[in-house]
This record gives sequence, structure tokens and C-alpha cells, in this order.
Amino acid sequence: MAEIENIVILTGAGISAESGLATFRGPDGLWEGRRVEEICTPEALAADRGLVLDFYDQRRRALGSVEPNAAHKALAFLDAHWPGELLIVTQNVDDLHERAGAGRMLHMHGELLSSLCASCGERADFGGDMIDGPRCVACGQNELRPDIVFFGEMPYEMERIERALMRADLFVSIGTSGAVYPAAGFVQIARHASAETLELNLDPSAGSVYFHETRLGPASALVPAWVDELLTTSASA
Ligand code: APR
Repeated sequence: MAEIENIVILTGAGISAESGLATFRGPDGLWEGRRVEEICTPEALAADRGLVLDFYDQRRRALGSVEPNAAHKALAFLDAHWPGELLIVTQNVDDLHERAGAGRMLHMHGELLSSLCASCGERADFGGDMIDGPRCVACGQNELRPDIVFFGEMPYEMERIERALMRADLFVSIGTSGAVYPAAGFVQIARHASAETLELNLDPSAGSVYFHETRLGPASALVPAWVDELLTTSASA
């Protein structure tokens, strides 16, 4: 393997599964019998605001009873010790990477602990229930929505992510089904930039064929082992 300096890591719901947060497409991933694709849309918010706010209010509340697991901690350790460029791009809207101590990371699909004002566009820290109709800290209107990128909306920070992918020597995808674009296409951008590509997932994903290597198993075992291997190999290079 060529010398690795720049790393991009993509994470999905699978990395938080062992912390107790349900994945989107697993057996417990339905909400009131509906698929996420039917709930997490601007149209659903307009048609049934209560249902959509309740979905996210319950997920926000669930954050209070979960902790980062060994996979989040291993990535935070890598972030703290990796001398080259590193970017953790998470599709997750939980805060478990931050709570584990990761610094070089971004939330491309938004965050549960943030609100977005539909009236003035203000994004602000938010920890309560949106169903209660809180007001925007900037404009005072009560048109807050979850600061979540719905289906059909543009993910955050795409330019920064693409720049990092174009410079990557190694791209690692962890705990994601590869069902949702643009994240599902990151592996192809990384390969175009001649990066090595590695997938760590419980099951083969829709994108497995695009990776140089896929390792199957739970993130809490695979991620610490991979981080250890990477830091050991790079130290002896
Ligand atoms: N360790 C590793 N991988 C796991 C584990 C685990 N313990 N448990 C489940 N997985 C894997 C599953 O095999 C699956 O491939 O995690 C993946 C989770 O897939 P999804 O539920 O589709 O979640 P994700 O890929 O993050 O979804 C992408 O879809 O609904 C939207 O915006 C939402 O960010 C989300 C996006």
C-alpha cells in the first residue's frame, strides 16, 4: 500500500447501532409503519408536521440515554493521533462522535441538537421538543424545524467534503448501507483520486463492489482493530 497521509472517513447509522440507536433500514428502522423516505421530506413536514417533529423529538430524547461506543472512541483516538489530514464525515444526526472527542468532523445530514428556522434560516443549538412550538432565538418566529437534511435537500459542506475526497489517500466507509446519495458515491470520487478504499460494515452494502476491501463485522470490533493496524503500520513506515 502506498504511503497514507490524507484520510476521509464516512460513517453511517451502523456505527451508532451498538450504542443503542436504531439504524434507518434495519428491522427496527420503521416509524409508525412508514419508511424514512416517507417521513424525512419537506413534503411530509408540510403535510403532517406533528408526525415529523415527533419522529425527531423522540430521536433527540434518545440521545440522553446512549453513550459513544468503542468505534466512536477509536475514531476520536485516530483523530487525535493522526499527523496528516483527516476528516470524519458523518451522515448521523446524533452527537456520539463529538462526545467521544472527535474534532475533525462534520455532519453532512445535519444534527438533532440543532434547529433551523424556516423563517430566517438561523441554525442554533437546540435541546428540547419541537412539538412544543419553540421560537427562533434570532427572529422570534415559531417556525423551527429540525436542522436535518431531508430527502431532496442538499447535504451540508459538500464542497469541503469533495475537496477532501479529491486529496484522499485512503477512504474508509463505516456502518452505512450505501443506499443514499451523494454519500453513496464518495467511494467512486475517492477511487477517481486514486485513494485506497476500505469498507467496514456488518453486512455487504449496495456499494461493496466499489471498495478495494470490505471487512464484515460489528463496528465496535472492526473499527478499533483497523485504527490500531493503521497507527502501527504508519509508525513503522
Ligand atoms: N456495525 C457495523 N455496521 C452495522 C452495525 C454494526 N453494529 N449494525 C448495522 N450496521 C450496518 C447495516 O448492515 C447497514 O448496512 O449499518 C448500515 C446502516 O444502514 P442504514 O440504516 O441505511 O443507515 P445509513 O446508511 O446511515 O443511512 C443513510 O439515510 O435515512 C437516511 O439521512 C438518513 O443518514 C441517513 C441515510
